[in-house]
Amino acid sequence: MGAMDDFLPRPQSADVTPGSFALPAGAAVSGPFADAVRLPLAALDLIPGEDGPVRVVHEPRLGPEAYALEIGADGVRITAGDRAGAFYAAQTLRQLAGPAAFRSSSDGAELAYARIEDAPAYAWRGAHLDVARHFQPKREVLRFIDLIAAHKLNRLHLHLVDDQGWRVESPAYPLLHEVGSHRPQTDVSYYGEEPALDGTPHGGYYTRADLAEIGAYARARAVTVVPEIDVPGHATAILAAYPSLGSRAGESHAVMQEWGISRAILSPLPPTVEFLETVFDEVIGALGSTPYFHVGGDECVLDDWKASPEIAAYQASLGLAGVGELHAWFLRTLADSLAERGSRAVVWDEAFVSGKLRDDTVVMPWRGAGVGRRAAAAGHDVVMTPVFPLYFDYAEAASVEEPLAIGEAVTVADVAAFDPAVAPQVIGLQFQLWSERIPDGRTLDYRAWPRGCAAAEVAWAGNASADFPRRLSTHLERLTAFGVEYRPPAGPHPWQRGGAGPRRHRPGVVPVHDVVRHLDEMTHTPDSTRPS
Ligand code: ACM
Repeated sequence: MGAMDDFLPRPQSADVTPGSFALPAGAAVSGPFADAVRLPLAALDLIPGEDGPVRVVHEPRLGPEAYALEIGADGVRITAGDRAGAFYAAQTLRQLAGPAAFRSSSDGAELAYARIEDAPAYAWRGAHLDVARHFQPKREVLRFIDLIAAHKLNRLHLHLVDDQGWRVESPAYPLLHEVGSHRPQTDVSYYGEEPALDGTPHGGYYTRADLAEIGAYARARAVTVVPEIDVPGHATAILAAYPSLGSRAGESHAVMQEWGISRAILSPLPPTVEFLETVFDEVIGALGSTPYFHVGGDECVLDDWKASPEIAAYQASLGLAGVGELHAWFLRTLADSLAERGSRAVVWDEAFVSGKLRDDTVVMPWRGAGVGRRAAAAGHDVVMTPVFPLYFDYAEAASVEEPLAIGEAVTVADVAAFDPAVAPQVIGLQFQLWSERIPDGRTLDYRAWPRGCAAAEVAWAGNASADFPRRLSTHLERLTAFGVEYRPPAGPHPWQRGGAGPRRHRPGVVPVHDVVRHLDEMTHTPDSTRPS
């Protein structure tokens, strides 16, 4: 078994010394933030009380998310900069307690004497989950929050709508969840091939009570939910429910069953903005405090805007030179609405390339570091989200042994080698779990871990050190105890393989580095966000 002090992510400093302290189950925890300390240590069933062996002290001078942790002969002392810092101290303590602390109950823990001082390198340590292409039920989202929080990740970007599904209950626009939340079947073809439809309905959505629960569950675990309503493209599910919001009069739509880019696009006219403001109010009202709200802006086919005399007249009345500027104007208008609601807008990089955004809009450069640098130079906060190596819908190997993926390869080592610091304005990084080919929670586990461990190491510690592979192998014992069906470093278990049926990956169809080259070229064309 690996050493208990093989922490992951790596703390700033950790001294482990001879001797150990026996922390029994049911021990008392005293001081501020006791609730935050108890959550990661649920297996030990700590109770709030006085004079227990676990003591917490608030020290604001440590700064946000920072903590110190000392284990000695008289027990555990946590000094925390804030509630999140206390939570992270307890996460580190859980790692020191050994894999059993990652199960739901344990008899107690033998804690090595240690002194740990720690704080994150980056403020935005994100995980993105596409619940639109395949819905993940609430239980999977809550479990995913537990897992990212165990890695000291602090943002859950929920991609709540796309052409293939709308995932939120809407009292004002009930057809969104009644019509937009399901499709009769799903494409199981390889990328670029004729669709192969599986004949099986798919769908689901979060009720307002579900969203409230997800928001509160995340906040308790120092995770901020960043909801995404992706507009004006990727909107076929919205248009299936409310076709009048479209850019072509009289056109009807169905929730898409195939993957790829739809040319259907929301109209940028005022009724669409009013509709989205109501949706923003509903999502923020349900989730609770929403400091960031993602409005997408990616992969828009602007042909229907160009072809519409009404939209052309509106564009001219705004003094805008082309549909690219109209695209940026539309997203900036939404960002202004969000600012009135207390949320900062987040966008994919197309919205930066097409025109002028609000200065406080956060940009996610999925098409590479080049556009990330340009967004940073323009003064935006930037969260690095490049396809390589942070799109975890790519397989870990170019092998038929892998389960079906969009392309390949993004390995754990690729993620560990990633340097997000392309500019001083980079506030963090985030890995993406696009779910065209993530149909269920088991596949989600396989795609997310252990690549997510490497992303967490870089996000928290700033880079992965040479001993990362050793620490990761210890850490996988913790994930095994938790019940995570991660991809073993040596390759998939027999039951995780692609097999001979539709789950089989086809190597060579989409090499990730070809995609990266192509995407970078596209970032130099401001008036067309269209992928080709
Ligand atoms: C994206 O991959 N369209 C953000």
